[in-house]
Amino acid sequence: MKGIVLAGGSGTRLHPITKAVNKQLLPIYDKPLIYYPISVLMLAGIRQVLIITNPSDLTSYKTLLGDGSDLGMEIEYAVQEKPRGLADAFVIGREFLAGESCALVLGDNLFHGQSLSKVINSAKCSVEQQGGAVVFGYPVKDPRAFGVVEFDSRNRVIGIEEKPQFPKSNYAVPGLYFYDGQVADIAAEVKPSARGELEITSVNSAYLNRGELSVELMGRGMAWLDTGTPTGLLKAAEYVEAVQSRQGYYVACLEEIAYRQGFIDCSHLRRLGEKLKKTDYGKYILSIADEVERVNRA
Ligand code: G1P
Repeated sequence: MKGIVLAGGSGTRLHPITKAVNKQLLPIYDKPLIYYPISVLMLAGIRQVLIITNPSDLTSYKTLLGDGSDLGMEIEYAVQEKPRGLADAFVIGREFLAGESCALVLGDNLFHGQSLSKVINSAKCSVEQQGGAVVFGYPVKDPRAFGVVEFDSRNRVIGIEEKPQFPKSNYAVPGLYFYDGQVADIAAEVKPSARGELEITSVNSAYLNRGELSVELMGRGMAWLDTGTPTGLLKAAEYVEAVQSRQGYYVACLEEIAYRQGFIDCSHLRRLGEKLKKTDYGKYILSIADEVERVNRA
């Protein structure tokens, strides 16, 4: 399975913060926002990733992540000339995907929780083994800004509506989607919505109409945080700080995940830590390398 991170957009809802800096490069406490969605793909064992961004931000992403080899990954880049909607990711990413299954994650979506790895790995396995698509339903107080799931009386999914004025449930669809190899063809058929965008909800509805969509509900113990407003950014940063300082475990430390997933070895991990050793982030990486070596010696 391959991965796509959509990191474009004009970020107008966060101006002036995002007037000169792409939203997904903003810090969430101690790391750029895009680290969090990349960590989700890595936890699903995905090593080949396409990052789609605006022409003006391409250089920044390449500076940040390079070709991915530091993390034992292959990272490629593509440009979205104009924000045409999320489903455009598959039009742009068609060649990259080459008919393979994929996970799409929105560059501004932050997930965290004990069952996250289990949830995403089971979605990945289901798509790889049975085909179709897997998306998620997450309860939110006000779902009007999202794709919203509609259930029938027996709790079967019968529809997904994009930003409904009168939501039919409080289950929003977060920006993490798993699709089989048909997705580029399905996305190519999508027509722009009333707001002029190729909606991801149209792709999901197409899978639903074929009887090939599964919606997995995320429970109360999962965090899906909003980064769409200044307050959302601040609260997300506070969340990450609270978890990290309390537990001593980092959220979305890509180097750690690369090591634990077997993408890189311990000496490589140590080299990455050395480069960042002036920061707590770098010291954390070194502490993991120390611990691994201590256990290996024992
Ligand atoms: C997009 C999708 C929406 C989804 C949301 C998740 O909304 O269109 O279906 O629920 O991402 O973050 P947008 O961010 O474009 O408003």
